[in-house]
Amino acid sequence: MLKSLAKIKTRAEREIKEAKDLKSLNEIFKKYLGKQGELTQILSLLPKLPRPKRRKIGRLANQLKNSLTLKFDERAQKLKEEAIQVAKEKEWIDITLPGKKPVVGHLHPLTLVKRKACEIFSGLGFEVVEGPDLENEWYNFDALNIPPHHPARDLWDTFWLKLDKIQKKLLLRTHTSPVQVRYMEKNQPPLRIVVPGRVFRHEATDASHEINFYQLEGLMVDKDVSVANFRAILQEFFNRFFEKEIQLRLRPSYFPFTEPSFEVDISCLNCQGKGCSACQKTGFMEMMGAGLVHPQVFKSAGLNPQIWKGFAFGMGLDRLAMMKYKINDIRLFYSGDLRFLTQF
Ligand code: DAH
Repeated sequence: MLKSLAKIKTRAEREIKEAKDLKSLNEIFKKYLGKQGELTQILSLLPKLPRPKRRKIGRLANQLKNSLTLKFDERAQKLKEEAIQVAKEKEWIDITLPGKKPVVGHLHPLTLVKRKACEIFSGLGFEVVEGPDLENEWYNFDALNIPPHHPARDLWDTFWLKLDKIQKKLLLRTHTSPVQVRYMEKNQPPLRIVVPGRVFRHEATDASHEINFYQLEGLMVDKDVSVANFRAILQEFFNRFFEKEIQLRLRPSYFPFTEPSFEVDISCLNCQGKGCSACQKTGFMEMMGAGLVHPQVFKSAGLNPQIWKGFAFGMGLDRLAMMKYKINDIRLFYSGDLRFLTQF
């Protein structure tokens, strides 16, 4: 028995010393001092021993129990401290490190251009108004002097929808011009508005065509409005928008809702009008359709064309953005490609 006490002592002391964590220390404790532990078993045999032997062995066994218990406690304490230290090191943060920047969104280039254009026109006394994307046939065509079966309808490839409750033909607006009539029905001239908005065309896409894009419609109505007014205002707009002197050019054209009608070109931003590949060597770039409001459009809105005169224009905001930022494919705006979008 004395021998086994000595063996327990050396084994237990070594194991306690080598215990790597609290869990294995606990296992070692159970092995020697648990209910079925080696030392516990010896202690439980004591009463059966003859007296003198019991005294000697009893004293030694109890001493060993006390010293082992103490060693367990000390080791447990040490392991706990070590664990806390490790946790602290893991948690440690270097407050001098540069922080992680939150990813902040930003405005789409078309939104930037739309806002800039509206801001300039607001400064020139124009009100910014909007109209519905879902139009009916009357506002999109008839009211703009484009009756059914008129060949001019072919100018706009239309997405037609099912008939509405009152059997009016519905469509996705092909241009922002219907808002001219909608606005004039409710507001008496003199008036000046710009209408930014999305329009839809049922056509094949390529670098300069999309099935939907953005337009900015303009309308000014008063008793004495002329092409000279139009020219002056658009000249001012383009100078401010591109932040440099721009040359304007008006060419005769045809739109059913204006008379006379014209296309407006601006001097090529790339070559300053000298002629390059971007402008097909013409020195000019086509910007918009425009003209003096057709008497029929005033009549559609319930206004007397003998009294009121006006000019109107419709320009592509995508086109404007493409020129401002030198983008060569309209489809990029709608691709959702972050490599493109994060450049703005
Ligand atoms: N609505 C025309 C289009 O989408 C553009 C346009 C031309 C608008 C002449 C006008 C205008 O207001 O006067 O092709």
